[in-house]
Amino acid sequence: MSKKPKMDARDTTGKPSYESVLKGEPALAEKLAIALAHDERSPRYTHGFHTYPAGLHPDAARDLLAAFPGQAVLDPFCGGGTVLVEARAAGRTTFGRDLSSVAMRVSRARTMTPTDEDLTVMRSTARKLTAEARACRDLPPQPILEAAGDWYAQHVLQELWGLLRGIRQVEDLLLRRQLEAIFSSILVKVSWRRSDTSAKRVKHDRPAGTTAILFHKKARELARMQIALREVVPSGTPPVDLALQDAREVKLKGPVDLVLTSPPYPAVYDYLPLQHLRRIWLGEGEGEEPGREIGARRFWRKSSKKARSRWADDTALWTAACARALRQGGHLVVVVGDGLTPTGPVDTLGASSAAAQAAGLEKLARASLLRPDHARESARWEHVLVWRKP
Ligand SMILES: C[S@@+](CC[C@H](N)C(=O)[O-])C[C@H]1O[C@@H](n2cnc3c(N)ncnc32)[C@H](O)[C@@H]1O
Repeated sequence: MSKKPKMDARDTTGKPSYESVLKGEPALAEKLAIALAHDERSPRYTHGFHTYPAGLHPDAARDLLAAFPGQAVLDPFCGGGTVLVEARAAGRTTFGRDLSSVAMRVSRARTMTPTDEDLTVMRSTARKLTAEARACRDLPPQPILEAAGDWYAQHVLQELWGLLRGIRQVEDLLLRRQLEAIFSSILVKVSWRRSDTSAKRVKHDRPAGTTAILFHKKARELARMQIALREVVPSGTPPVDLALQDAREVKLKGPVDLVLTSPPYPAVYDYLPLQHLRRIWLGEGEGEEPGREIGARRFWRKSSKKARSRWADDTALWTAACARALRQGGHLVVVVGDGLTPTGPVDTLGASSAAAQAAGLEKLARASLLRPDHARESARWEHVLVWRKP
């Protein structure tokens, strides 16, 4: 399903009007369509901390959680943790899984709600590290320099190394993880890489000292955001259970009421390789194997036919694993969009529906929206699909 959208079509509020399809239980399908249609972002809690590609809209996560009110929620492709943050804000017990160590780091920082004392220590440690980094004249060790040296001005490399060397000496594990997340959040911005999702080189002059100062600014920003989240998380809500794990092999100790997730859309990103700068500086996670990635864009460059059938097979595997993780009567809710490839669109609705049926789930409702993809001058269908475990 793919065609050019009417880009100039507007509804009475002036928002773009998209073509939509609603199926199944009408009241539920209507809720799904509203969740999927959120467009404008109003920043809240920790969502804006650290970039992460293809993040779900926080309002979509909030609305979908509200539509399925069971206690335990799993996101097996948690990425930057949008679902996890909203689930904590709603007082749910939350499990996050992803194949990427960057996703783990970002999700952890975005879902943490430290005490005031811990945040004071975090801010003062960040201030101390900033001062040390401004004075650092050493370059990073050879492996980092060889792999990442070309992406930074020399004084930026020195400041980054000053920060990382100090972070590595922090003994308190939670504090060190917070500081690593802050360090990670500035790594691309101070590099000559255009963005997380574009490896184009764009050289810029960054005055000496400003890399370290940016780190300090981000530390204070994260503390403010975590306080905003802490204010809404009901007391007694457990911390998120996070682990680096292949979604096709997800196994939890007890059943969950809801799996709410957005898997990789086919052929859109190479999630692991595009984080290469962060993986060079901060290392890789155990089990973080790019070959295990689902739907990666690079698979389509080799053979479109194989990539399509691999996507369908992987969808069947992770859907079956999630179905096993659900309690009877629990729901699987998937937000997914079709792939746009040089060999034509990749339909995700058919493969997702076949996977759910094979996993023994029953179809409840769906909403589909045809959205413009400006980069490809085209349009893709995005879906929210809901199944129940009988
Ligand atoms: C669409 S993104 C999820 C974004 C997330 N919903 C958010 O709001 O930030 C898809 C995620 O799937 C992850 N992924 C890819 N293959 C995976 C696999 N085999 N197992 C678990 N996660 C995988 C990627 O690392 C990426 O974080």
